[in-house]
Amino acid sequence: MKITELQLNNFRNLKNFNSIIWDNKINILIGKNAQGKSNLLEAVYYLSNGKSFRTNIDSDLINLNDQNSLVKASIKNKQFQFKLECRLSNTYNKEFFLNGSKALKTIDATQYFATVMFSPEDLMLVKGGPSERRKFLDEEISQISPSYANRLKDFKKVLLQRNNCLKNNIFDDKLEVWTEQLVQIGSHILYKRIEVTEKLKPLSRLINRKLTQGKENLEIDYLSTIQNIDKRKSVEDIKIEFYKQLSLKSKEEKIKRITSLGPQRDDLSLKINGMDVRSFGSQGQQRTASLALKLAEIEFIKSEIGEYPVLLLDDVFSELDNDRKRFLLETVADKIQTFITGTELTGLNNKLIKSAKIFSVENGIINVY
Ligand SMILES: Nc1ncnc2c1ncn2[C@@H]1O[C@H](COP(=O)(O)OP(=O)(O)O)[C@@H](O)[C@H]1O
Ligand SMILES: [Mg+2]
Repeated sequence: MKITELQLNNFRNLKNFNSIIWDNKINILIGKNAQGKSNLLEAVYYLSNGKSFRTNIDSDLINLNDQNSLVKASIKNKQFQFKLECRLSNTYNKEFFLNGSKALKTIDATQYFATVMFSPEDLMLVKGGPSERRKFLDEEISQISPSYANRLKDFKKVLLQRNNCLKNNIFDDKLEVWTEQLVQIGSHILYKRIEVTEKLKPLSRLINRKLTQGKENLEIDYLSTIQNIDKRKSVEDIKIEFYKQLSLKSKEEKIKRITSLGPQRDDLSLKINGMDVRSFGSQGQQRTASLALKLAEIEFIKSEIGEYPVLLLDDVFSELDNDRKRFLLETVADKIQTFITGTELTGLNNKLIKSAKIFSVENGIINVY
């Protein structure tokens, strides 16, 4: 999959009206701090996810001196070429267009465009809290399954309602209605997360082995707050367990006034040679495992949709040592359209620089370098 052209208009500090022609493979964006490099990646990410990775407030994305913003791309996947457009405004809700027709739901337009974002924060994927790893799974699955993305949205709404009941001491039929919906939607989410974790398992193990010259064996497992659910269980089995275990918690929930179990509390277990990497791994092992997980994500998406997503690498080269850098570049070289941001070209491999199209980003203006 690749972006052939991108047009931006008042997206944060980016003022470019003209469309930019991108390289099919490697695009490097060089600029000092706070010039708009991450903003550009954010615009691309927004087109593929319908949301930002930095904010939930869409109006933040519109240039402060303006009322409207536009991001428009020509994208080519292995089947067809299409135009994806997003309009943001301070006076109406965001609108997405696929080949000029307005999409009823954002995902109807964004589902054909897949990206993987990789930023220095992702190197904290292993070290960070469970919410980071849930987000990792959720974003990844949403890229390949619009129905998962929709369920996730519904789940959040239902969870909020159920928690509101608990907070306000409402324990009658109303709570029961939300409980049933929570279990219903939540079980589908759990099923999918377990299924995808099983697919990521061999991919991340292989990549981590390569990154450590065969020395380390990474093993990931879905770690749920609900007991007795695993890859052998159907959605119906999971529903039964979820409902049963939530019922057993009703006393506790009356005291704590918050939903005690479910996908919103789950985690990924990460072990290297049988040892929990989060608690006992060195910083190097944690970074390598994080990198392995992100690269496994790319391979997973490829295996699901039949082609590689567009890769967005925000400032990661400054954070990686030479061996990991080389590995990452060998992985993407020649097969994945990649956007790399950085403050300088030095430190980047010569071969890479020669094969890439290089742009400068200065005060919101993007030019060929
Ligand atoms: N809505 C907005 N309108 C105008 N400028 C913005 C807006 N949001 C962020 N900016 C500006 O964008 C710049 C940061 O851009 P960013 O892409 O994160 O920089 P970097 O090049 O370091 O990655 C800052 O100067 C910030 O003030
Ligand atoms: Mg940046």
